Amino acid sequence: MVDVLLGLQWGDEGKGKIVDYFAGKYDVIARFQGGPNAGHTLYVDGQKVVLHTIPSGVFHKNTINLIGNGVVLDPVTFKKECDKISSLGVDLKRNLFIAERTHIIVPSHRALDKASELSKGSEKIGSTLKGIGPAYMDKTGRNGLRVGDVLRSDFNERYAKLKEKHQHLLAGYDFTAEVKAEIAKDIAEWEAEFFDAVSYLKQMNIVNGEYFINEKLQAGKKVLAEGAQGSMLDVDFGTYPFVTSSSTISAGVCSGLGVAPKWIKEVIGVTKAYCTRVGSGPFPTELHDATGEKLRAEGNEFGATTGRPRRCGWIDLVALNYTCMLSGVTQLVMTKSDVLDAFDEVHACTAYEINGQQTKAMPYQLNENEVKPVWEKYKGWSDETAAKSKHFNELPAEMKSFVKAVESYLHVPVKFVSNGPGRDQILEQEIA
Ligand code: GDP
Ligand code: IMO
Ligand code: MG
Repeated sequence: MVDVLLGLQWGDEGKGKIVDYFAGKYDVIARFQGGPNAGHTLYVDGQKVVLHTIPSGVFHKNTINLIGNGVVLDPVTFKKECDKISSLGVDLKRNLFIAERTHIIVPSHRALDKASELSKGSEKIGSTLKGIGPAYMDKTGRNGLRVGDVLRSDFNERYAKLKEKHQHLLAGYDFTAEVKAEIAKDIAEWEAEFFDAVSYLKQMNIVNGEYFINEKLQAGKKVLAEGAQGSMLDVDFGTYPFVTSSSTISAGVCSGLGVAPKWIKEVIGVTKAYCTRVGSGPFPTELHDATGEKLRAEGNEFGATTGRPRRCGWIDLVALNYTCMLSGVTQLVMTKSDVLDAFDEVHACTAYEINGQQTKAMPYQLNENEVKPVWEKYKGWSDETAAKSKHFNELPAEMKSFVKAVESYLHVPVKFVSNGPGRDQILEQEIA
């Protein structure tokens, strides 16, 4: 069977830490979408590691990791990640597999991402500039290169053809000579690393992902599908156009790995106890005041991939209700509850007020509506929960009431509360 773990907000919910925590219970951890735009932070023996493409089960000896066909892989980031992980004593030849249908990000995809954002000016998406959008465009446009292609003798010619196509597209932008020169320089620099990284990729375990995973399932193995980004960044249901280019909800698991819906069992949704977003786009509960600043400082809210400050606000139950519905979430993990230790009062948005009308539904174009959050307020606990509570029952009564309020709004149990970045800082709620 396959359990799914995914983010329910705008990314960075703490998925990496939670996957690492659960990984020992699974035989396979599989990424099904996204690419190096993701930054999943783990602490391994006290050392911080940020994973971008490689599944977060990689530090568990008996767990196999699969990069699924739904992912877009940049060989350069991938090699850097492998070097780091190998230096920590992990034998990647033994526990990492890559689906041959996984699409490749080439240097000119990154250049196209940059060109697209530059041309949008103030309307920009706030992309991580890792080439995600252009790589998925080539996938659906049927021009892309895949991991299986690196093993073919004509790879270099196919690469050159794709690059030429990208250069035509780049030439169509109305940029100054300086910007054009900068983009050309970027491509040349990135290309130097690219071929070296492709040679590295060639000698990794490249497999037919769909047979690989289905054979494991037939043999009774347990799989955890690890999501990247968050449901509100989903290309269909997120705050379009301020989204990523993949299917980040549970539906993406089937096409991103080649598994049938019948295999999916639990859908574990991860949410912070508050909310963050990095990049542009609507964010109804964002706080532009001292409370927002305090959330950023207490939560150390700076992007794991780009280092950008994350926008912060209170938890948005309207959005969470929507994303739990889309993915059929069966259990929740609430992360970073310890960050709220520092607040006397905690707020949650329980409805949106749009044009004087209250609604609990997600509007068509969130960014075109003036949305006023309707707040429910809870007494804070003003206690150091991370240091003091080792079991769910030891958490302060006020925090437990907050958890209960979230559960009763969403009709989904909060099975785990994570109250610190460490591997062991996670408390299970016994649910009768
Ligand atoms: P991901 O992309 O969903 O894996 O999340 P990120 O790694 O981008 O961001 C989550 C950040 O919060 C990381 O710096 C984690 O180390 C940290 N983190 C995860 N869980 C907790 C928690 O329960 N409490 C605190 N204080 N930090 C956490
Ligand atoms: P993890 O897996 C947070 C955001 C970007 C931008 C938008 C589009 O760590 O949760 P893209 O690079 O995909 O073209 O960017 O999506 N974004 C993320 N925000 N966490 C992520 O991943 C993200 N991946 C993309 O900031 O707004
Ligand atoms: Mg992240």
